[in-house]
Amino acid sequence: MKFSDLRKNFPEEPAKPAARPEKKYEEKPVERKPDEIPEAAPVEEVKRFKQEAEPPVIEAAVQVPDDMRFSIKKEEKDASARSDLKEMEKEFREKAGVVYSRALSISKETFFALNRPYVEKFSEIDYAVRILYGEMKGNPFFPGMISYLTPSNYLYSHCVNTAIISMGAAIELNMPEEEVLKVGIAAFLHDIGMPDYSELSKLERKLNENERELVKGHVASGLDKLEKIMDFERGAREITAAVISRHHERVDGSGYPDGLSGDGIDVYSGIVAAADVYEAMTHKRPWREAIEPPKVMKYFVGSMKELFPSRALKGVFSGLSMYPVGSLVSLSTGEIARVTVLNKKSFSRPVVKTLLDGEFNPMEEAYIDLMEYPLTDIEAEVEYSALAVKNPRFFSDFEISNFWVDW
Ligand SMILES: [Fe+2]
Ligand SMILES: [Fe+2]
Repeated sequence: MKFSDLRKNFPEEPAKPAARPEKKYEEKPVERKPDEIPEAAPVEEVKRFKQEAEPPVIEAAVQVPDDMRFSIKKEEKDASARSDLKEMEKEFREKAGVVYSRALSISKETFFALNRPYVEKFSEIDYAVRILYGEMKGNPFFPGMISYLTPSNYLYSHCVNTAIISMGAAIELNMPEEEVLKVGIAAFLHDIGMPDYSELSKLERKLNENERELVKGHVASGLDKLEKIMDFERGAREITAAVISRHHERVDGSGYPDGLSGDGIDVYSGIVAAADVYEAMTHKRPWREAIEPPKVMKYFVGSMKELFPSRALKGVFSGLSMYPVGSLVSLSTGEIARVTVLNKKSFSRPVVKTLLDGEFNPMEEAYIDLMEYPLTDIEAEVEYSALAVKNPRFFSDFEISNFWVDW
């Protein structure tokens, strides 16, 4: 890759994004007791954790096939390539959408079915998790589905997304396939007790102390609901019961219901706990805004590092990377881009798609594989509050595009 090639595709003097205004909102991690925003980790800490988390040999969760390696350079060779790439993304996303939609439906049906005294739902739940897993292995665009939110009831997308993230972590930890699927089933069902508290979870304000205490009861409700699923496969039931019991426990003892600490929290519960927190923090709720995914990743290696078993956290971190798919980032050449496909060889060099120029004005979409452009780096995440000020229309379209409505 020649520097001149890079220059052909990027402005001589790229305009830098304007200084970002102060944050407009104070975000709080929903799953934690302390109300303050977690401190982001210093850059060195992120790098160090990255080295630790990046094992020497780990099979990629999603292998990006050679013909999926996008670059402007390749596009230049073939004038029609740009539309081909768009077409390819469209095809993969359509396929991802069908699977995601099916899993959402099964999640919704499961929540409804659990109002009955008993249900035979395991084979359907197992099927949902297997099709999600299959898509994770074969569709490089599939991880992007975790950006979606079901606006009518966030629980459905929350459970499906948590299953996707948790399985991604289990794959990164080299767990055998059957174990990965069990983690997926447990994550899919981790909040089955929540509908008993739906009045509280729909409130458009923060819960008070009493209400927060009440919602903790969703763990016990979840275990009761689990008993209603008559056809549950035995090994999967054990892991699911553990995850429902412990997904709010924290290594430092600050969690609930039992205030377990250290080794008291198994790796499956740890994975789902971290995936659960990531999913919740990166999506809008009736009472708060979403947090930018890369910022949550910084919390994971900063102030939230002590909350989860380290092996579980490494799996989640490896599966999502420093810049998870769907993140909006600013490039060192000035443009604003969306992370589109992860590069498993590098946590910080995914394939991105340019959306806005350095002045936050719309620009032609181009796919850039940052592995092929070593002189172009991701500089930082784009803060939603800055985007809302600089290009309100784009921001509102971006928020709406994350709502899963075709369902
Ligand atoms: Fe929960
Ligand atoms: Fe949850």
